[in-house]
Amino acid sequence: MKVRQPIVTVLGHVDSGKTSLLDKIRGTGVQGREAGGITQHIGASFLPREIIKKRCGPLYGKISGSDVQVPGVLVIDTPGHEVFTNLRARGGSAADIAILVVDVNRGFQPQTSESLRVLQARKVPFVVALNKVDQIPGWRKSDAPFITGAIEIQDASIRADLEQKIYDVVGTLSVLGYSSEAFYNVKDFAKEVAIVPMSARSGVGIPELLAVLVGLTQQYLSARLEQGSKESRGIVLEVNDEVGIGPSANMILIDGELGMNDTILVAKRDGVVSTKPKAILLPKPLDEMRDPRDKFRPVERVEAAAGIKVASPDLGGVLPGSAVYITSDAAEVGRLKKEMEAE
Ligand code: GTP
Ligand code: MG
Ligand code: NA
Repeated sequence: MKVRQPIVTVLGHVDSGKTSLLDKIRGTGVQGREAGGITQHIGASFLPREIIKKRCGPLYGKISGSDVQVPGVLVIDTPGHEVFTNLRARGGSAADIAILVVDVNRGFQPQTSESLRVLQARKVPFVVALNKVDQIPGWRKSDAPFITGAIEIQDASIRADLEQKIYDVVGTLSVLGYSSEAFYNVKDFAKEVAIVPMSARSGVGIPELLAVLVGLTQQYLSARLEQGSKESRGIVLEVNDEVGIGPSANMILIDGELGMNDTILVAKRDGVVSTKPKAILLPKPLDEMRDPRDKFRPVERVEAAAGIKVASPDLGGVLPGSAVYITSDAAEVGRLKKEMEAE
């Protein structure tokens, strides 16, 4: 059975380090180009298997003891600022799995809890990235890529401090109905939320974070990611009118596939439109869709999960957040339209 790429949504309070974490993994500098350092849109980028393998280092071979099948992941970056509740919900609605980023020195903050409610409502499994360990007062810097090694060289008082911060998170999560543990103490990843201390600045802990994430995906999401008879569907992130492209929509293709001959159905203010793509454009791997450094590549066909730009004159006026359905069967268009109009 064919398994699609999982969608990993990154959520958390403003400035907890979501974009910085993705920058460190991708080797990009998106955060530095944001106005005021604040994310204001949903981002999407593809992490190929090779980059995950590289960032995991020797841990990669140990993931769940078998050969790793996840064919890369689509990561969705969301804003943490309080005004963007709708974007967090939208990002969460596409998620197969999530990274909840928490600033280790601040603990749970209002949008941490809000993000968690999004995940809870949709039963999305997640891992906690306890970020900015390098800012713990007295933290000894090192070149260690692994957080376990970095913790070992800290003074006893710093280790105790980190332990306390971890248990503060464990306490909060327990009130909210989750049992959780520092990842090195987790016995059953299906039952306990793993907390991975890390730093997006130095990169320490990122190998472990990715290893936990890929391990979780493989063991517990395989069935969900199977593409057998799934309907092709997605979600609109934003709609633009671009020079040389015309009206176009950035979308996340969540399930199935989209080809140049397929029909796309999407809701507008005054009813459901059906349209064929004039172009399907795919960003380069690792390139952030909302801030691309490279030209998008036109493709004939794309498989989920993917962030894509679809050009079509009919897409002007489509509302961000709208669900998208796709069919290759002309006879299906009418039925799908009726279903969507009834919603
Ligand atoms: P929003 O998307 O606006 O909610 O913020 P964000 O969660 O994406 O955080 P962002 O990546 O913008 O980081 C916020 C600030 O924290 C930036 O100045 C980063 O350089 C800094 N930062 C992020 N991660 C770390 C870290 O691990 N250590 C230190 N020292 N600073 C960090
Ligand atoms: Mg950000
Ligand atoms: Na920020």
